[in-house]
Amino acid sequence: MYNIIKQSHSGIMWLVIVMLVLSVIFGLIKTLKKEETASAHWYKFFYYTKWLMYIQALLGITLMFISPLVHYSDGFMKNEQLRFYGMEHPLMMLIAVGLVSIGLYKSKKKSSTIKKNRSITIYYFVALVIMLLMIPWQTVMQ
Ligand code: HEM
Repeated sequence: MYNIIKQSHSGIMWLVIVMLVLSVIFGLIKTLKKEETASAHWYKFFYYTKWLMYIQALLGITLMFISPLVHYSDGFMKNEQLRFYGMEHPLMMLIAVGLVSIGLYKSKKKSSTIKKNRSITIYYFVALVIMLLMIPWQTVMQ
């Protein structure tokens, strides 16, 4: 059970990165081209990206309860690995998921397509940067 969830969490990471990068690239192109007409296809893509991050977060939250790397013993904050998996990684990743949710929600409220695309581009970009910084690359690249 633990290995299946951990492997899924690790594998889905690549899909999340690809979808976030594509969301930022196409959001930026649409913003710079000042596109007036909204594209239903891309809106769906931005939407699926958000839902995939929700699934990734759910797997992560599950790992919080079963991972041997997460235990809040005395002094866990002084231990780099326990601090990372027990607090830094979960907290920052949840912030990244929150930013993507806010970005999509705010874009719906915007009056023009240009403003909608700009909102998506900015929030998804900041979420992408946070996520890339908080991925345990040394573990992933092993
Ligand atoms: C949404 C974006 C997220 C990404 C891209 C991500 C990515 C990763 C990656 C690549 C690993 C290493 C897996 C391995 O060692 O093979 C990992 C581990 C872990 N993640 Fe996430 N994570 C995300 C969100 C979360 C969230 C929201 C939580 C908790 C609330 C979380 C909790 C954990 C835990 C506890 C581990 C350690 C698992 C273990 O090695 O036992 N993650 N994450």
